[in-house]
Amino acid sequence: MVRAPALITLTAAAGAAGLGYVSVVERNMFRLRRYDVPVLADGARPVRVLHISDAHLTPRRRRLMSWIRTLDALDPDLVVNTGDSIAHAAAVRYFLDALGPLLERPGVFVYGSNDLYSPVPKNPARYLWRTSATDHAREVPDLPWAELGAGMIAAGWLDVNNARGRVKAGDLDIEVAGVHDSHVKRDRYEQIAGPADPAADLRLGLLHSPEPRVMDRFVADGYDLLLAGHTHGGQICLPLRGALVTNCGIEPARVSGLHRHPAAGQPALDGRRAWLHVSAGLGTSPWAPARFCCPPEATLLTLVPATGDPGPPG
Ligand SMILES: [Fe+2]
Repeated sequence: MVRAPALITLTAAAGAAGLGYVSVVERNMFRLRRYDVPVLADGARPVRVLHISDAHLTPRRRRLMSWIRTLDALDPDLVVNTGDSIAHAAAVRYFLDALGPLLERPGVFVYGSNDLYSPVPKNPARYLWRTSATDHAREVPDLPWAELGAGMIAAGWLDVNNARGRVKAGDLDIEVAGVHDSHVKRDRYEQIAGPADPAADLRLGLLHSPEPRVMDRFVADGYDLLLAGHTHGGQICLPLRGALVTNCGIEPARVSGLHRHPAAGQPALDGRRAWLHVSAGLGTSPWAPARFCCPPEATLLTLVPATGDPGPPG
């Protein structure tokens, strides 16, 4: 029979081990996901897109920075950053330094709310019963989001926060449009509204939070591929079941990974259905430093012809 003091000691030890696992082990268990996305014209050469999101970087996260530095070896043709890159006033230079040679490649980005507002103390598990949409009740951003954007723009990356533009990646002429973070109502789709250019080789939509009302508009305008982050893949998930929450309007089945929008099984919008990739993200808020059954990630999307013709090797 186990005596009460021993039981208390055992319980405390198990709790400490669990906390150590979710906050140290799994939070640094970085993985690269890979998907082929059949979205290009027949015969097009495959193009590699590296999708990063939600680094929430602070100067102390050296293992995260080291892992980001390894991603250039994937030789991506395009880098997409869907926001929440920083979580500390001094993190901009660390983030840009971690990107390193990736900044010399074509890139596009949008902000997430956490690029504007510093993190606040909170219960790490509260995502399970409420969203973070009211976390940023402060009126004036207190993080150096403009400095962050200027660093990426100076490297040649395209800022598509409520903006449209054009980027060349591999052999592709890509029309890109994006919105600022809808999670804190900074999205202004009306500024980018209108049919996407049918003459482009690909029409790419970026948004931090995969909000269905915004994604519907991208699809209606003819965008082929939508990239988003924000969900952290649910962050604290259940074995075998997966995410419990998404922290936005999308359902848990599409909390991360490659899907369609509208989802398979739902009616298409005017006959259109885009591809959707949601990144589970690279980090966590410093005040919610835990991941369970949801390791941090980046994704390499290989865009290939939709017709079954793989095209020449990339
Ligand atoms: Fe995030």
